[in-house]
Amino acid sequence: MARIATNKLLHKAKKAKSDEFYTQFSDIEKELQYYKNHFKNKVVYCNCDDPRISNFYKYFKLNFKKLGLKKIITACYREQNNSLFNEEKSENGFFFEYTGKEDEKNIIYFKGDGDFRSKESIDLLKQADIVVTNPPFSLFREYVSQLIKYDKKFLIIGNINAITYKEIFKLIQENKTWLGINMGRGISGFIVPEHYELYGTETKIDNFGNRIVSPNNCLWLTNLDNFKRHEDILLTKKYYGNEEEYPFYDNYNAINVNKTKDIPLDYEGTIGVPITFLHKFNPEQFEIIKFRKGDDDKDLSINGKCPYFRILIKNKRLQFKMHNKSLELTSEPIAEKSNINDVSYIPDISGVTKQTVHL
Ligand SMILES: C[S@@+](CC[C@H](N)C(=O)[O-])C[C@H]1O[C@@H](n2cnc3c(N)ncnc32)[C@H](O)[C@@H]1O
Repeated sequence: MARIATNKLLHKAKKAKSDEFYTQFSDIEKELQYYKNHFKNKVVYCNCDDPRISNFYKYFKLNFKKLGLKKIITACYREQNNSLFNEEKSENGFFFEYTGKEDEKNIIYFKGDGDFRSKESIDLLKQADIVVTNPPFSLFREYVSQLIKYDKKFLIIGNINAITYKEIFKLIQENKTWLGINMGRGISGFIVPEHYELYGTETKIDNFGNRIVSPNNCLWLTNLDNFKRHEDILLTKKYYGNEEEYPFYDNYNAINVNKTKDIPLDYEGTIGVPITFLHKFNPEQFEIIKFRKGDDDKDLSINGKCPYFRILIKNKRLQFKMHNKSLELTSEPIAEKSNINDVSYIPDISGVTKQTVHL
């Protein structure tokens, strides 16, 4: 119930376009630890961040030397009415630059409101190498598309639902973006302003008096390489011999899998997996074929029922084996390349046998 309540709260925030969920320092630290090698001599831009309260700015300032940063730019949007820090309300946005010198205190006002889409903010974006922030949820599509347009590296927080947006999914399919390390409960919660009602067990007031909401439905989206993207999903289940556990869709030639861990290691065709698969997706192990829809362009269904969002994938390691002209199917070379360490179960299909095959 509590989770439903906080999800509703986030939804309300999205609808109201207030977008005032502020990221906690601990959550930033928890994700950023995996990207330290990307920041040397780089200009970081936090373009939805009031430097007076942003924990992104705080994180980069504190770690300026350790990361070897060249500059931090933070830009604040005018809307201060609903924010945590609403002393100096202004119609104009402003930005602030930090290059490691403690006497820098210059806030420079934009002529406009500091909208991330404004020319003034885009001029700063052009100077930046990496954008790191939690942008307004309601403008997420536009936000990401601008980062892609200006060919920027980024690490940003979004709602898990964002990966179901066709524009974002397309970028994931094209390997232009992928998920970060922490997701769901891996992001502990957001600081919310006074006017947010706190109810349910997924809310609290922390030791500093901050009001925290934990929607547990957010993720990090990035195009900075991370270790997870190179780790194979450990597969243990087999399709052949257990066919009844893997029904075919009514409207696509693929088997359905309800949990990523149940992806069979021996199935050479297309497999439908839940959207959460993307959190473990290694593009060297799997190929993304299609999103959500069957051949009739309707949601994938099994006996007339549609499971929640499915992504169609193929096991690339298996394809590699099948398409190799002369490949000895012994356990060793394949085990080296993947988690498949027992190939004795591979069925005799498409000319693949347990012996050397010539396709
Ligand atoms: C989800 S909050 C996150 C704030 C901060 N980045 C953080 O993580 O703590 C999104 C912020 O974007 C600001 N914002 C809303 N619309 C914006 C726009 N069009 N351009 C830039 N910032 C915007 C809001 O005022 C809010 O402070």
